[in-house]
Amino acid sequence: MEPDLDEIELDLFVEALRRRHGYDLSQYARPSLKRRVQGLVRQHGLAHIGELTSRMLRDASFMPQVIDGLSVPVSEMFRDPFVFEALRTKVFPTLASYPSINIWQAGCAHGEEVYSLAILLEEAGLYDRSQIYATDFSDAALARAREGIFPVREARAASLRYQQAGGTRTLADYYHARYDLVKLDESLCRNVVFANHNLAIDGVFCEAHLILCRNVLIYFNNALQDRTLALFADSLVRGGFLCLGTKENLALASAASSFATVDGPARIFRSVRAT
Ligand SMILES: C[S@@+](CC[C@H](N)C(=O)[O-])C[C@H]1O[C@@H](n2cnc3c(N)ncnc32)[C@H](O)[C@@H]1O
Repeated sequence: MEPDLDEIELDLFVEALRRRHGYDLSQYARPSLKRRVQGLVRQHGLAHIGELTSRMLRDASFMPQVIDGLSVPVSEMFRDPFVFEALRTKVFPTLASYPSINIWQAGCAHGEEVYSLAILLEEAGLYDRSQIYATDFSDAALARAREGIFPVREARAASLRYQQAGGTRTLADYYHARYDLVKLDESLCRNVVFANHNLAIDGVFCEAHLILCRNVLIYFNNALQDRTLALFADSLVRGGFLCLGTKENLALASAASSFATVDGPARIFRSVRAT
């Protein structure tokens, strides 16, 4: 049987990326990784994955574009509004009992969820004692997140989801529109730290009362999902909350026994780990 050259080249690309830059994608779900790598090949007018590997090895300035292309920073403000509603009604009351609140938003993409959360915390009177650590492994995504600039059509679409999530004002109160873009109110970032953190290789980031990591685990294989969930279990205070994407679960993970379900459909769990 003919060897599948794409598969061999993909292995070599993953190994080269790990050895040259420390990014370990060996435990990413293979089909979506392959699609994204092939997308990079096309985007940069290269002939095959081997050419991409060679350019990445020799041109350090190319790296941010590679990571950006691999990162799928697809998100939207108040995505799955019922999840934000559940955070507001089932998680915020407990957070309100803490004198200071640490929130880790892992895989923050362009910041859509960070701003959504900041707005709801503000309206609940909790923002001033909250510290949000927003992390991603893509510096390009983090730079966009810091800017807080989004297409106006996205902001308009998000208005309804904001209401459904239980927002008490109008979303337009939090941004300034200019032509076809909106800029989110900079004060929403006053308690946000944007930082690079790679869930595949980095360790505990902070002692968190709430970790939001949605639509990131779907890109990982079972072993990396396990590692990530164990990292979250270690990072949460006892009684702290974990919110995953609606297609993600921890039932089969080794860390499952560290959590109890708070809201199944919204994928909100609570740490029950003994200290
Ligand atoms: C589909 S977006 C999810 C955005 C947002 N959480 C949401 O649900 O709308 C996935 C994000 O995970 C980030 N990501 C992928 N692998 C990562 C890793 N190993 N460590 C940290 N972030 C990662 C990507 O850069 C991307 O921004």
